[in-house]
Parts: sequence; structure tokens; C-alpha cells
Amino acid sequence: MDSLRRRGYAYAIGAFEFADNIRLNILDVLKPYETPPDISRNAKGLQGKLCIITGGNAGIGKAFAEAAFRHGAHIILACRSRSRGAAAAKAIEQSIATGEGNVEVRELDLASLASVQRFAHAINAERRHVDILVCNAGIMAPSQRSETSDGFENQFQVNYLGHWLLAYELFRGQDQGSEMQQRSRAGMRSAPEGKKEQLDAQGNFAGARRLIFLSSMTHRAGHLDFSNLQLERGYTGFQGYANSKLATLLAAKEWNRRFRACDSTRQDISVAVHPGLVDTELARGWLTGADVSGIQLQPVVAPLARMLAPWLLISTKRAVDQLMLAATGPPLQVAGQYIAHGKPRRPSSEAEDAFLAKKLWSITCQLTSLQEGHGH
Ligand SMILES: NC(=O)c1ccc[n+]([C@@H]2O[C@H](COP(=O)([O-])OP(=O)(O)OC[C@H]3O[C@@H](n4cnc5c(N)ncnc54)[C@H](OP(=O)(O)O)[C@@H]3O)[C@@H](O)[C@H]2O)c1
Repeated sequence: MDSLRRRGYAYAIGAFEFADNIRLNILDVLKPYETPPDISRNAKGLQGKLCIITGGNAGIGKAFAEAAFRHGAHIILACRSRSRGAAAAKAIEQSIATGEGNVEVRELDLASLASVQRFAHAINAERRHVDILVCNAGIMAPSQRSETSDGFENQFQVNYLGHWLLAYELFRGQDQGSEMQQRSRAGMRSAPEGKKEQLDAQGNFAGARRLIFLSSMTHRAGHLDFSNLQLERGYTGFQGYANSKLATLLAAKEWNRRFRACDSTRQDISVAVHPGLVDTELARGWLTGADVSGIQLQPVVAPLARMLAPWLLISTKRAVDQLMLAATGPPLQVAGQYIAHGKPRRPSSEAEDAFLAKKLWSITCQLTSLQEGHGH
């Protein structure tokens, strides 16, 4: 009953969002969408920053990579297919003649924890300071349950677990290994309180890192039952997706709590984002796949959905602005928040449950064979 209520609520909010998207798309025809001035202004803070984007070869990730590159960031596209990554890097570099950074491609398959570890260890070994990690890659609602080679339900690992491990390995590795980090941290500790030189124009501390997780409004239909976390019982693609997005949101909030507890001077922050219902392969695939709670509506819904998709879904340009707010907005405004529709919003009550977040963290450490309490 509870699960029906949650799902009904999420579908109702989704329906409102679709309706609002139609309104926005009509407005866009009358007057093309412009990025709000405060977001454009803050985006200048990306100059020279190193930004890793998982799944940066397509959809929202690629669009954000392009925008960050335009503002002078160095980009690493972390992709499961090197060739798709290379094609995206080429397209990004060619589209913006003035980009001052560069675009690298690295292999990362979130469905393999070994691949995640290889990726993070390589970055750490190069002692590069990662300013922004965008945990963006995702899959949505495959109708059949399947497991990764590590034995986890696919969406749980790709959308949540793989990203959690990536963040852990990168951020812990940098804390332990990077001389640059240690120097900047030592500098901050010894500096007098409130010393202005340590803040950039956006109010960021020098060296402060941002962890951005792509969640979704569908987290409202999610529920974490720790005795059935891999949905071995009662699997539906949508429930698996909603659960993975709830876990992601809980992780974003818990990371932020731990950053605050660990080092209040540097101000690393973590943010969760619902980008909107956006016109990408993922959303179109779901709309036209129409496997709603296991009921195959595809033959009826797919042609209709294909026709309506451009009106029901918003452009990646709008989605990029949500991410840009998370990546460059004032830390006090966005730290630990769930950003949706241009500002911090209240997520579901389960997503705000700090006890649940702590428990998930602890179980995640066990699932990834890490010692809790180590690092963060
Ligand atoms: N679009 C929406 O309406 C919407 C709404 C809410 C939240 N989101 C979230 O936004 C994020 C981006 O979605 P999108 O709409 O841009 O989707 P998309 O266009 O389908 O792109 C997904 C990206 O994830 C990559 N990916 C999938 N599995 C991977 C794996 N095992 N390892 C590494 N990369 C993998 C894909 O790589 P390949 O090209 O190799 O497949 C692709 O680059 C997702 O987390 C999604 O849940 C989207």
C-alpha cells in the first residue's frame, strides 16, 4: 500500500512536470531560453578547474561538459566506451573554438567496481586535484532484472554504488596522497579566520571540491528495504530506478554531513540535482519503452510518446543550468541540498532521514569491502 502511495505521488508530480514542460517549450518557441545571469556569472568560476563527468559522452553529461569547457574548465569524460567518448570530446572541442581547457577521455564502466577502482587510482597516481566530480551516468528502468559482474542489481550499481565508490576512492585518495591538497589545507588552517584571499569571486575556498550527484524526482517513489536492496523480490524497472535515485540523494546528503564534520575550513560540498525531465536517450527510451510497473503498454504508447516527447521533455540547456547551479552556485546556498527547478527543494522525507543515510553508508562500505571510518 505504501509503495502504491509513493508511486502514485511520484507519477502525479511527474505528470505536473510534463505539463509544465509543455508550457516551457511553448515559451521557448516564442523566446529562446536564456541562462539566468547569476548562473552565467558564477560559471566563470570554472576557469582552470578540473571537472570529471561520468557518462559525459551523451545527454546531460555531454551538454554539461560542453558548457564547462566553454567556461575554461579542464574536462575528463569518464565513459564506458572509449570510442563514444572520443567522438564526444571531438564534438565538444570543435563546437567551441574559444575553449581554453581541454577534453580528455578515460575509460570507466560503473557496472564494474574494478573499473571504478582502476579509474580512480590512475587519477590519484597523477596527483591531480579534482575540483568537481559529476556523478551523472545512469541507466533507467530495464524491464528485466539483471546483475553486474559484481553481483548487484544493475541500476543499483551503475546509478548508485559505482558512483559512491568512485567518489570515495577519488576524494579519500586525494586527501591521503596529494601534496597540493595538504599544502592548501595547511595554509588555510594557519591563516587568520575570514581572510579574504582564500575566497574566490563566488565565495569558494581555494581548493574546495564539489561532489555532484544526479538524482531524480523519481526518488519520491523509492524506498530502501535493506533486506531486499537488490530487488531480488518484486523487481520492476521503475522501482529499481527510483530506489537507486533515492540512494543517490541520501548519499549526497551524507557526504555533505561528513565533509562538514571532517574539515569545516576547506568547505568541500556535496549536492544532489534533479535536472528536470530532459530530452535525452534515457528519458525517450523510458517514455517509448512504456514498461509501467511491469505492464507492457509499448505498442499503444510508444508512437504517441515519440510524437509528444519534444513537448513533454525540456532541452538539455535547461538541465545544464541546474548542474551549473550545483557546480558553481554559492556554497552556502547549495551545500547538501537537493536542487530542482532552479533552486534547493525539499526532497521526500525518506531522503532527509539522516539515520537511514548513515545506515546506507555503512552497508555500502560493506558491499564495497571498505572499512567504515577510514578516510571520510
Ligand atoms: N533525462 C532525464 O529526464 C533525467 C531525469 C532525472 C534524472 N536524470 C539522470 O541524469 C543522468 C544523465 O541522464 P541522461 O538523460 O543524460 O541519459 P543518457 O543520455 O542516456 O546518458 C547516460 C550516460 O550514462 C552512460 N552510462 C550508462 N551506463 C554506464 C556504465 N555502466 N558506466 C559508465 N557510463 C554509463 C551512458 O554511456 P553510453 O553512451 O555508453 O551508453 C551515457 O553516457 C542519469 O543519472 C539520469 O538518471 C535524467
